[in-house]
Amino acid sequence: MCGIVGIISSKEVSSRIINSLKKLEYRGYDSAGIATLVNGNINEVKCEGRVDVLEQDISKFNLKGDIGIGHVRWATHGKPSKVNAHPHSSDEVSVVHNGIIENSTILKKLLEKKGYTFKSQTDTEVIAHLVTDYLKKNSLKDAIIKVLKKLHGSFALGIIFKKQNNLIVGARRGSPLAVGYGPNENYLGSDSYALKSMTNKISYLDDGEFCFVKKDQIEFFNSDGSKINKKVMNLSKDEVNYDKGDYKYFMEKEIDEQPTTINACINEYVDKLNNQINIYNFPWKISSFKSAMLIGCGTAFHSCLIAKYWMEQNTNLEVSVDIASEFRYRKIKFKKDCIYIFVSQSGETADTYAALDLCKKNKVKTCAVVNVIESSIARDADLVLPIYCGQEIGVASTKAFIGQMLVLYILSTKISFDQKCIDRKEYQSKIKNLLCLSTSAKKTLKQDQKILNIGKVFAEAKGSMFLGRGFSFPIALEGALKLKELAYVHAEGYPAGEMKHGPLALIEEGMPVVVLAPRDEHYKKTISNMQEVIARGAKVLLITNKNKDEIISENIWEKIEVDQLDDELIPFLITIPLQKLAFYSALEKGYDIDKPRNLAKSVTVE
Ligand code: AGP
Ligand code: GLU
Repeated sequence: MCGIVGIISSKEVSSRIINSLKKLEYRGYDSAGIATLVNGNINEVKCEGRVDVLEQDISKFNLKGDIGIGHVRWATHGKPSKVNAHPHSSDEVSVVHNGIIENSTILKKLLEKKGYTFKSQTDTEVIAHLVTDYLKKNSLKDAIIKVLKKLHGSFALGIIFKKQNNLIVGARRGSPLAVGYGPNENYLGSDSYALKSMTNKISYLDDGEFCFVKKDQIEFFNSDGSKINKKVMNLSKDEVNYDKGDYKYFMEKEIDEQPTTINACINEYVDKLNNQINIYNFPWKISSFKSAMLIGCGTAFHSCLIAKYWMEQNTNLEVSVDIASEFRYRKIKFKKDCIYIFVSQSGETADTYAALDLCKKNKVKTCAVVNVIESSIARDADLVLPIYCGQEIGVASTKAFIGQMLVLYILSTKISFDQKCIDRKEYQSKIKNLLCLSTSAKKTLKQDQKILNIGKVFAEAKGSMFLGRGFSFPIALEGALKLKELAYVHAEGYPAGEMKHGPLALIEEGMPVVVLAPRDEHYKKTISNMQEVIARGAKVLLITNKNKDEIISENIWEKIEVDQLDDELIPFLITIPLQKLAFYSALEKGYDIDKPRNLAKSVTVE
């Protein structure tokens, strides 16, 4: 993934590069580095670990310079280490890179034959030597054009040159890159957020383009080197200072903010006065759709899965769901009467973006359900439905999942009414129920102490299972994903009815198993499946909703009850204890909750 930043100014840049890198840490945090140009020399400071460590190192070196580039890394080629940290430099240039150079092995061999020596195991270092090589016989611009043509794979690049103290080169293919315009200085960054404290005037590079960022101007070129003009966007100045407040972890705060997320989203899409859903700017006739295809990765994919249940139940649409990294390589038969819906918190996930791009090339209708509205996915989709949950910093997605589900539920209800699958009475009753969701979510959040104790057992477990049927199955997958990514405990999400076809063999004495069994049409069946795992020694945590009927089962280890709401809305509520379970399990183990190992918030590589 990685985050890159560059500043060219007449003032020193290192402290501002550090500040921007802190904002980009959500993209990678296994190493960090910075390079500046001072009197024809490139000075580098790099470290393994976080930007805080880099900041301390820089204060020791007193790093000067008014042109510089910086990087936070999420390793793809070569382990996280100081030597593999970016920038990577040759005798002539220094490079920061986000992406993967797929032909780096071949290029490395060719360059080694020419006498270039490599210090790191990264794919990135070939770029530094390749540029150096082309600079011998070409102008700087021609060298860049030729190097970019040689590179296979994806990249966003920032390059500074020893002998050229008036520019930073930026280039993009596949990975996002923004430029910012300042007063007698200009910037380069992986996103506008990294530059927001310096400017609100931003342009985005499109695939294949490169630019020369100079102090007083920015020049843009297409892949052949012809000059192009770019739109300058004025972003809102209100940089919300999203901090932890009284919380120790962002994730904890973000879980607690979910009732607010629900309200914010409802306020945007629901006209409470007239009891109706408003989706403004919907560019097509809803009756023109025969099918929907939902695409996402990770948690966003889980919200797509649950939307399939809602849409199948409530609309006439034929609904399919796919993981973006699979979709982009399948031989899809694109349909004009299908709405392709892309779900992504960051709006920058490389696989999701590539899937959207494929749809755009096939000229089908695209809709983005995103949180970051300035993101690449939001910019390129025909219709954008924001989730309004505010910034999400914790790598483990929580409030964005609730927001994604909510937007998809609202969309499905709207389609359902417009397609006349439900009458006005049912439509309005669904909206009425929706208005109770935030209060019930608030109540669910209060069951803290109990989950804290349960979390201690999951933290110590060798493995665990999360079971559910119907609407609860995608939530089981999400619960398992949360536990894996935060507490590093092996966790499997499974359809409860599928256990007997193999996974039941995994159950052994004392294994913690979460059973999601709301009192819906599947309740009795799921309870039977629960009994089957209890009989084989599992310690079952049952999550259900309150009901006047007693639970018809014995030997349940722990039970959590959420409010009784419309069946379709229960997935929102049963998600919350699972988020807390993962949180407390990770807390018990003393792990880095907001930045789990090996992960990053925004996944901009394949
Ligand atoms: C969730 O906890 C994850 N960290 C991850 O699965 C995430 O949902 C996925 O990478 C997709 O990200 P996006 O929503 O920004 O596209
Ligand atoms: N491939 C580069 C590396 O491993 C950049 C990684 C990235 O952008 O995630 O250093």
